[in-house]
Amino acid sequence: MLDPYVYSGTNILKNVLGIQDRQTLDDAEADYVSLRLRELAENPLEGNYDVAHLTKMHRYIFQDIYEWAGKIRTINIEKEEPALGGLSIEYSDKTKIENDLSKALKKMVSRPWADLSLDDRVKYFSEDLAAVWKVHGFREGNTRLAVTFCCQFIEAQGIPIDRTIFEKHSTYVRTALVAYSAVFHDLGDLSKKEYLERIIWDSIKNGPLSGGE
Ligand SMILES: Nc1ncnc2c1ncn2[C@@H]1O[C@H](COP(=O)(O)OP(=O)(O)OP(=O)(O)O)[C@@H](O)[C@H]1O
Ligand SMILES: [Mg+2]
Repeated sequence: MLDPYVYSGTNILKNVLGIQDRQTLDDAEADYVSLRLRELAENPLEGNYDVAHLTKMHRYIFQDIYEWAGKIRTINIEKEEPALGGLSIEYSDKTKIENDLSKALKKMVSRPWADLSLDDRVKYFSEDLAAVWKVHGFREGNTRLAVTFCCQFIEAQGIPIDRTIFEKHSTYVRTALVAYSAVFHDLGDLSKKEYLERIIWDSIKNGPLSGGE
């Protein structure tokens, strides 16, 4: 596949810093992004939790690194997952991204969060986070974006959540999202929901103001 996002002949994403070494880019990206994520945790980004709001957050998080920050991807993507023996999750087709994101976000926004039991909050928050994540609307950065966006949303519903758990256990989180989303056209439903639900449960249970209810 010809990928217009990488320097030709490499798998290094073109970036505004002009870095063409994988490790240097990964380090620079991680540094800039964690600064932006800390800013967002302090000051939520305003919006209506729609597609425009999500793209605005992607732009904010990756503004220092990628010229295409905040722009929906223009190519189809696959990512080999060790947890799936090298298979890729079936991310949304590039022509369906806005529609799929809009559907996932509307579902999340319309739930009666305040009236749900802890068990149902965990169940539906996991489902909604995974639905936003499975679209993978951007060329890169979808896991950090989905987690940050959905955490900001749930906090805005008056449900505190410990975001540091997602940062500390980022490899587990990504694998849990993969396991949750492992539904394939040819192989059928291989999904396992319990890993994501477990860490969501911990993060809500240990939310900063939830008082360990
Ligand atoms: N919530 C988080 N907070 C801070 N860093 C994170 C968080 N989640 C992941 N990371 C780090 O970001 C880097 C990239 O992670 P990864 O490639 O899995 O996610 P992504 O780039 O956000 O999403 P994707 O590659 O699926 O589009 C890793 O170094 C990972 O440790
Ligand atoms: Mg990535």
